[in-house]
Amino acid sequence: MTKKTILITGANKGIGFEIARQLGISGHHVVLAARNELRLQQAVQQLMDLQVDVSGLLMDVSDVASIGQAADEFGRLNLKLDVLVNNAAILDKHDHSILRDDEVILKQTLTTNCYGVLRVVKAFLPFMKNPSRIINLSSGGGSMTDPVGGWSPAYCVSKTLLNALTRQLSAELLLKNISVNAVCPGWVRTDMGGAGAALPVEKGAETPVWLATEAPQYLTGLFFRNKKQIPW
Ligand SMILES: NC(=O)c1ccc[n+]([C@@H]2O[C@H](COP(=O)([O-])OP(=O)(O)OC[C@H]3O[C@@H](n4cnc5c(N)ncnc54)[C@H](OP(=O)(O)O)[C@@H]3O)[C@@H](O)[C@H]2O)c1
Repeated sequence: MTKKTILITGANKGIGFEIARQLGISGHHVVLAARNELRLQQAVQQLMDLQVDVSGLLMDVSDVASIGQAADEFGRLNLKLDVLVNNAAILDKHDHSILRDDEVILKQTLTTNCYGVLRVVKAFLPFMKNPSRIINLSSGGGSMTDPVGGWSPAYCVSKTLLNALTRQLSAELLLKNISVNAVCPGWVRTDMGGAGAALPVEKGAETPVWLATEAPQYLTGLFFRNKKQIPW
């Protein structure tokens, strides 16, 4: 196995932490990014206790200045990235109606889930290797072909936009040999997915971990669930 350096945003808990744990225990260097210093330190310590090669990076993906500072900090580590996992996202608990909800909900959701991804990609691009990979945690809620249920509409719109961003980034980064794909992890038992969700967090991390390690590099500009391509 070739040891990779893998940065994961929103990695202090949930699917992001589990992606880091699985990749870390299989021997990769994982860089956990999180917005809260204490939660970041706790997550880093949990992986250190498992003998994982882990670093921590403070980064709020909704804050341009914080992303810039994180990229500067990363630059001082003298590392190059094999994989960037854009995992951090929000789903506002008041996100019920695209017609009636305050537009602030849509704005904040897009700022974190879409602009956040784009800004992180731009800030970390100088550190991406040739070849390397970008993995965007999307959702079936963003699909334009699955029947949309009308749940959490701002969140679903943000994931549709993230899918479109995935396609655009994939096209622009083709010549740099950087693959860019989106993943629906399924409905997973995390703070976001809730206790009644169908899947354990280990299963939610499965396809992102596969895309980070085993998936062929030529796969790019695609949407995956259960390690299989799905329609947009
Ligand atoms: N769970 C599901 O069923 C499900 C289904 C489809 C897609 N997904 C996607 O999978 C990904 C992970 O979801 P999850 O279920 O693990 O969610 P989660 O348990 O709510 O964890 C989300 C993570 O993102 C972080 N985060 C949120 N806003 C951030 C910001 N501005 N800057 C940095 N970090 C931020 C959170 O940090 P804090 O602890 O500081 O809040 C947390 O670490 C998301 O992209 C989500 O949309 C999840």
